[in-house]
Amino acid sequence: MRVLVSGGAGYIGSHTVVQLVAAGHDVVIVDSFANSKPAVIGRLEALTGRHLPVHAFDLTDYDKTERLFADEPFDAVIHFAGLKAVGESAQIPLDYYENNLGTSFSLLRAMQRHGVRMLVFSSSATVYGERGAPPYREDFEPIEATSPYGRTKVMIEHILGDVAAANPALRIGILRYFNPVGAHPSGTIGEDPQGIPNNLMPFIAQVAVGRRERLVVFGDDYPTADGTCERDYIHVEDLAAGHVAALNRLAQVEAPVSVWNLGTGQGTSVFGMLHAFERAVGHELPHVVGPRRAGDQPRSWADPAKANAELGWRTEKTIDDMCADTWRWQSRNPTGYED
Ligand code: UFG
Repeated sequence: MRVLVSGGAGYIGSHTVVQLVAAGHDVVIVDSFANSKPAVIGRLEALTGRHLPVHAFDLTDYDKTERLFADEPFDAVIHFAGLKAVGESAQIPLDYYENNLGTSFSLLRAMQRHGVRMLVFSSSATVYGERGAPPYREDFEPIEATSPYGRTKVMIEHILGDVAAANPALRIGILRYFNPVGAHPSGTIGEDPQGIPNNLMPFIAQVAVGRRERLVVFGDDYPTADGTCERDYIHVEDLAAGHVAALNRLAQVEAPVSVWNLGTGQGTSVFGMLHAFERAVGHELPHVVGPRRAGDQPRSWADPAKANAELGWRTEKTIDDMCADTWRWQSRNPTGYED
C-alpha cells in the first residue's frame, strides 16, 4: 500500500515507518518538525535503505494538505501528528484543540475528496479517564479525559465515529496506546523530547546519561504493591508492529470503525521501571521521592485481548528489552538528534 504517515519524523511515527517499509509498503512522510528533528530522516533512510519522500508542512493548512493529496495517490493514512504533553495542554489549551483537531479535519477532508478509505489514528489510554480498576477494555463507555490533551483524543474519536457513519466506505482503526517506551534496537532512532522530559522513561534515561541530576518519583503512597503508580509500558517496536497489523486488518474488516488497545496487559511500578533501567545501565541511579503529580491514576493497564485476537498481534518485548534499547539509544545519542 501507498501510505501517508503524518508525524512520521516523531517518536512513534519514525519507528512505524521502518516497519511499514519492511512490510513492503511505500511510505510518504508529512511532518511540521514542530516537535521532531529533520536529522531523523537520514537515519530512517539508512535503516530502511530507501529514499523517503518528506513533506514539511503543518497539516492544519488545508490548502497544502489538499495539494499533497491531489499530487499523490494514497491507499491509507496513519495519523500520528499532534501535540501530546498533558501538562502543557492545560497551559495552552487552544493550541492543543487547534492543532490536534485541525490536522485531523484537514486529513479527513482530503481523504474524502480523493477517495482515500483507510485511516489509522493514534489515540491514547487517556480516554479511559479516571476509570478505577484496570484492565481497560475498548467497550468501556463513556470515554472521557481529564486534560485538554486527553479531550482532543476523546473528541477526535467521536468525530471519526460521526464521519464514518456518514461515509460507510471508510475503514478507520483507532489505536489506544498505553505507555510507549524503548527505541529501535540499532540505537539510531529513539525518543528525543524537547526540554525537560515529562514522561518517566526519557527522564530516567537522561539521568543515566548525566543530563539530569536525579529522578523525582512522584509519590510512593499510592495503594499499590510498592506505593508507586503502575503503568502498562509497551516497547515502541511492538507498538509500531501494531500499526502494520491494524493497516492489514483494515483492508479486510466490514465495520467502518474499529478500536484496539495497544498494551501488554501488565502493570509495572515506577520503582520497577527504575530498577530495570539500573540493571540495563549496570549501576544505581540517583532518585528521591517527591509529592504526587496532580492527575496521576494509581494504576493503568490494557486488556489487549481484542487486539491480540483481531489483529493477530501481541507484544514480544520485555521490560528489560525496553530499558536496554532505550539505554543504547540514549548512551549513543546523549543529546538526541542534536549531535
Ligand atoms: N513519573 C515520575 N517521575 C517523573 C515522571 C513520571 O515519578 O519524572 C511517574 C508518574 O507519576 C507516573 C509514571 O511515572 O506514575 C508514568 O508517568 P508518565 O508521565 O511517563 O506517563 P503517564 O502514564 O502519566 O502518561 C501517559 C502518556 C500520556 C497519556 C497518559 C494517560 O504519556 O500521553 O499516559 O493515558 F495521556
